[in-house]
Amino acid sequence: MKILMVCLGNICRSPLAHGLLRKKAADNIEVDSAGTGNWHEGEAPDHRMIRTARKHGVDISDLRARTFVVDDFDRFDVIYVMDQSNYNNVVKLARDQNDVKKVKLLLSTLEDSNEYEVPDPYFGGDDGFEHVFKLVDSATDAILKQQQ
Ligand code: 4NP
Repeated sequence: MKILMVCLGNICRSPLAHGLLRKKAADNIEVDSAGTGNWHEGEAPDHRMIRTARKHGVDISDLRARTFVVDDFDRFDVIYVMDQSNYNNVVKLARDQNDVKKVKLLLSTLEDSNEYEVPDPYFGGDDGFEHVFKLVDSATDAILKQQQ
């Protein structure tokens, strides 16, 4: 199973999702992350996201941002996006319905959530990063449960 986590910059939400799933999953799950924008290409995750993840025992400092490419539709079985805007950006690049079917909102894995999007924490305070951690932690647990 190959899973790609996608957000806008690939420096806050999707590297966290990448690092959390990498830590929790067994060898049968391969995970990567990408951003729909290219502003942060090659950069490490935002220091606030690194710090929040570290506080919860997850090291994401080795990850480097890259931009989502059409090839990713071939390389991955599922493409989880963080919000509706990411969904629209990725689906715009889809070549056919098979590509479109691979794209899912990450929080659609949560059965009893009334939140559908992982909010962008970039312009906010520390609370936003903590909130992102809780949502992505629950969603990555749900992904593993689905695989069982
Ligand atoms: P991310 O957050 O999509 O969770 O990585 C953002 C990071 C950078 C920017 C926007 C969102 N930016 O505008 O540079």
